Amino acid sequence: MTTHPFPSVPGIAYGADYNPEQWPEEVWAEDMRLMREAGVNIVNVGIFSWALLEPSEGTYDFSRMDRILGLLHDNGIAADLATPTAAPPAWFYRAHPEALPVDKDGRRLSYGSRQTFCPSSHSYREAALRITGALAERYADHPAVAMWHIHNEYGCHTNACYCDTSAAAFRAWLRTKYADDLAALNDAWGTTFWSQWYYDWDEILPPRATAAGPNPSNLLDWRRFCSDELLSLYKAERDVVREATPVTPVTTNFMAITDALDYWRWAPELDVVSNDHYAMSTDPEAEIEIALSSDLMRSLAGGPWFLMEHSTGAVNWQTVNRAKKSGELRRNALAHVAHGADGIAFFQWRASKAGAEQWHSAMVPHAGTDSQIWRDVVRLGADLKALAEVRGSTGTAEVAITWDWNARWALEFPAQPNSQLRYVDLVRAWYEPLWRAGVAVDFVRPDADLSPYRLVLVPGLYLVDDEGAANLAGFAERGGTLAVGFHSGAVDRNCHVRLGGYPGAFREALGISSDEHFPLQPGDTVALRGGGTSSLWSERVRLEGAEAVTWYTDGPLTDVPAVTRNTYGEGTAWYLATHPDPATLTSCLTALCTEAGVEPVRTAPEGVEVVRRRSPSADYLFLIDHGGHGAAVPVAEDAVELLTGKATPGSVTLAPGEIAVVRQPRHG
Ligand code: GLA
Repeated sequence: MTTHPFPSVPGIAYGADYNPEQWPEEVWAEDMRLMREAGVNIVNVGIFSWALLEPSEGTYDFSRMDRILGLLHDNGIAADLATPTAAPPAWFYRAHPEALPVDKDGRRLSYGSRQTFCPSSHSYREAALRITGALAERYADHPAVAMWHIHNEYGCHTNACYCDTSAAAFRAWLRTKYADDLAALNDAWGTTFWSQWYYDWDEILPPRATAAGPNPSNLLDWRRFCSDELLSLYKAERDVVREATPVTPVTTNFMAITDALDYWRWAPELDVVSNDHYAMSTDPEAEIEIALSSDLMRSLAGGPWFLMEHSTGAVNWQTVNRAKKSGELRRNALAHVAHGADGIAFFQWRASKAGAEQWHSAMVPHAGTDSQIWRDVVRLGADLKALAEVRGSTGTAEVAITWDWNARWALEFPAQPNSQLRYVDLVRAWYEPLWRAGVAVDFVRPDADLSPYRLVLVPGLYLVDDEGAANLAGFAERGGTLAVGFHSGAVDRNCHVRLGGYPGAFREALGISSDEHFPLQPGDTVALRGGGTSSLWSERVRLEGAEAVTWYTDGPLTDVPAVTRNTYGEGTAWYLATHPDPATLTSCLTALCTEAGVEPVRTAPEGVEVVRRRSPSADYLFLIDHGGHGAAVPVAEDAVELLTGKATPGSVTLAPGEIAVVRQPRHG
């Protein structure tokens, strides 16, 4: 049994970003009382405290942090202590104006907000490591500190800088990648096109604004560099902390399904994978996106993870800053637990009265404790306490969906055959029918070990390297069911088109070949045999061993296969050469699950999300009624509902909008 990633916080951790420096100290005592009332057992402190901790270069004032940590410890609340490096103080910028980032158009940004620094700046790195070292030295053995929180949301607001220092860092990164071989770079970037051939490393620039479109291979390396450059800052701070306190786990908070960073490269560097998730109020089924990003986090973590931030209600950076509906706070929070979170925290503890986020919700709202939010917060604390035994249990997916940031970046570069393609939308379209059917999903890298899965889905994997392509094809060959979405496998690791027919990387496994794409105009659809339609994409598929599952019945590709199925080795490989409407896609995924022998966790009444976590001794069934109709759901005879503590032999009844978490012992 592997050890838990944050062993010293018991049960399901519960807390928030805690920014007491925004308040007079009289308020702190009330904070402690209320935290105890709500069952809070960990808070994230010091995230934006740099200006107060280091009033001038090299001069520290730890008195306030000493008092905060002391108070937390006295009240039995753990601290996830942050390095404050996401918000350098004004004095730093006045001394080091070159640390301010430059955008694509050559404008240097100003300070006065947060997260405004050049990732390659030497002065920023030096200052960040200095304050990190001072904090680590002072608090290495502090009994309140259960976790270290490096920086805040790397890549948020600024994930790239186009200044000369960044240009030099980019060149150094390229020289390492291409082993100092400029000819290899010219080859990888296809620089014979448009006279871009480089004779000297110093000729290479970040992809600054130019008159015409950028080189996609160059852009791809730039995105990889930007992710790695921030990762190197994270690692440098982490190493400073680890040296002072080798056993305390270290995290940094991810930003859900952001395209800023390649989290597959980041996750192995974290002791605790943690995520910040804000449901979009424009999404009428935000619960699907919560499930998707939580599944991604569980997959990145390879086990339990920590929801470091979400909201109790209004999110000030969204266009309409809406409140959560009745029961939504609880459903949202427990959905994250259902998908593997062993810690639930909010931004933030007490709603600010001043500053850029004064209209953001919090656990203690502006109205105080005589409020719906506070009552919900206290109830959630009790719920999480009741779920303590769920801690450490894991998912049970037999279906994997590939997720790859390189493919995502490349798919969304300019000048694609169809510039409407959005990676996350393609993945979500395939994820949704599975979510509705209660089929558990993991996300995997294309080169992952696929042996735990029966069905592997590959939507939108425009770019795939040879190893990833061989791994996916090998999965089918060895008996798995593989389904590949249109335009997947089109380009190699350098973003070069794979020649000889589309989709290059998967042609053989799929038993088809296409000679031309026929992308669709916005709003256009083509009819499919069987009554469905499809949009976004079509291509002239020729069968080379595969059979047609369905085909177009109108448009320029009438009678051409739209979905194909090929027997490949011991398994099968399907190709969805178009973007079917939701009902048709659901039928395809149902057929794929049946063929692969994948069962839903349990047949869910419509509107009820069903998720299973498993421990060696029990299955925990999370039933969440998003639909608001209530339901009776069959469960085992020896089942117990944990939130009420009541035995529920044979069936559990969900009131409208409610949640049940059912323990079903595993026998034998
Ligand atoms: C991010 C940040 C927090 C806060 C919230 C508001 O997640 O990490 O500091 O700004 O957004 O939603």
